Amino acid sequence: MVDFMLPKNSRIKKGKKYFCKSNSKAIKKLKIYRWDPEKNENPRLDTYEIDKSNCGPMVLDALIKIKNEIDTTLTFRRSCREGVCGSCAMNIDGVNTLACIKPIDEVKKDINVYPLPHMRVVKDLVPDLTEAYKQLKSIKPWLQRNNNKDTNKKNILVEKKQSPKDRAKIDGNWECVLCFCCTTSCPSYWWNGDEYLGPAVLLQASRWINDSRDEKRKERLKEINDSLKLYRCHSIMNCTRSCPKGLNPAKAIADIKKAIVTEK
Ligand code: SF4
Ligand code: SF4
Ligand code: FES
Repeated sequence: MVDFMLPKNSRIKKGKKYFCKSNSKAIKKLKIYRWDPEKNENPRLDTYEIDKSNCGPMVLDALIKIKNEIDTTLTFRRSCREGVCGSCAMNIDGVNTLACIKPIDEVKKDINVYPLPHMRVVKDLVPDLTEAYKQLKSIKPWLQRNNNKDTNKKNILVEKKQSPKDRAKIDGNWECVLCFCCTTSCPSYWWNGDEYLGPAVLLQASRWINDSRDEKRKERLKEINDSLKLYRCHSIMNCTRSCPKGLNPAKAIADIKKAIVTEK
């Protein structure tokens, strides 16, 4: 049998421990992945104890408390703190999610926190999304019209109206916050991420394909009709299960495939 082992310099070592001196009965332990590219050291798992009675309710509140009060070197992304910017995506308790909408009390034991899986790590909990954003750019995530050659400013500036019925066609797509929780939980993307676009980018593609104001639907479908870009999705559904916004990228992908077949 093949024995898969991580190379020695990738193995996670036991890290530092920061104990809470308070007598509070609401102590919670977080075990957090740490890796600094400037130090020639293996990644490690640091343990921090926090007093929940002095902390906001979400995992992101605990991370901010640790950074402010215990260890300023801890690195993670965050911005909105209410689940709309997508920047605090990480793996908490074995599931990809947004730290700002993940309640601390939902995790009964110690909270294990890792960066999004199968991405290069920039530092600690920060994944490198450079390639994912290149893939997003490749699907042209903006409105395309046929009037580009029209030099009459009046025509260009005319309002592009959309009926409520057409507007409803992009429900379930526009809410995506591009956190990449789905993409990084997709086994097909783990193994073919250099070619397969992954569920987040395909859901974005679907958002533009189904926008009635966009005039490049045919071209978009043609462009995406590719065995590697699209058909590496095998409907495993991990993506839909992991989306913290309750969206269904697997269905969006199935709908793109259907449109390709039926609109030839
Ligand atoms: S349904 Fe497709 S995109 Fe979603 S996890 Fe499975 S293979 Fe990946
Ligand atoms: S579909 Fe959901 S999990 Fe995927 S990027 Fe959008 S919000 Fe994040
Ligand atoms: S900080 Fe914006 S989604 Fe969590």
